[in-house]
Amino acid sequence: MVASVFIRGGSLRHHWLMSDAAVSVRRYEPHDREAVVLLAPRLEFGVAHWRDAEAVRRAVAGWIDESLANADAEDREVLVAQVGEEVVGVVTVAQRRHFTGEVDAYVGELVVRAEHERRGVGSLLMHAAEAWARGRGLRHLTLETGAANAPARAFYARRGYQEEDVRLTKALGCPPQGSQVE
Ligand SMILES: CC(C)(COP(=O)(O)OP(=O)(O)OC[C@H]1O[C@@H](n2cnc3c(N)ncnc32)[C@H](O)[C@@H]1OP(=O)(O)O)[C@@H](O)C(=O)NCCC(=O)NCCS
Repeated sequence: MVASVFIRGGSLRHHWLMSDAAVSVRRYEPHDREAVVLLAPRLEFGVAHWRDAEAVRRAVAGWIDESLANADAEDREVLVAQVGEEVVGVVTVAQRRHFTGEVDAYVGELVVRAEHERRGVGSLLMHAAEAWARGRGLRHLTLETGAANAPARAFYARRGYQEEDVRLTKALGCPPQGSQVE
């Protein structure tokens, strides 16, 4: 249960007191970088099995790098969840224009450390991302996740997220890129 939500020093902070620990959500700071980077591999989960695993690993690391490098930008926010002194989760949210022209909030990455799953940390991070979006007057928050990421899909469905677009893929039976004979 959310015990308190308050503003301190101009930054949004949420405290969620749980049975075994207190979790707080605050803005990312540069000294969090190492802990956040260590969370990145968890984003590989649920990517379609036909995608190149090494390319997925590089892409996921790149997403986190880019989000952290732009954490101070006016149109985005990076928030971390902390238990004691330990960073246990991160969410990145930014403004993004939908094809209708409406500006949405868009969650690029959401990760919780495996040891802290199913304790409400992910929900608290999404609550904070949604509060950030509402504070900007944005009407929708969108995100993408792997069709095979059943836990994340269950998580988002529980939080009221509906499917809006579905991307379809067909394997065409060609050799992998780079191995074609010229
Ligand atoms: C998805 C993720 C962020 C959820 O974080 P979390 O802290 O475990 O989420 P919460 O504890 O707030 O879960 C709230 C609810 O979501 C649903 N949920 C979460 N994990 C679930 C799972 N593995 N299976 C089914 N439902 C799940 C449940 O309804 C859960 O409530 P309950 O525990 O009372 O049943 C976390 O599992 C994660 O980091 N996964 C790896 C990275 C990833 O897939 N990120 C999202 C894609 S961008």
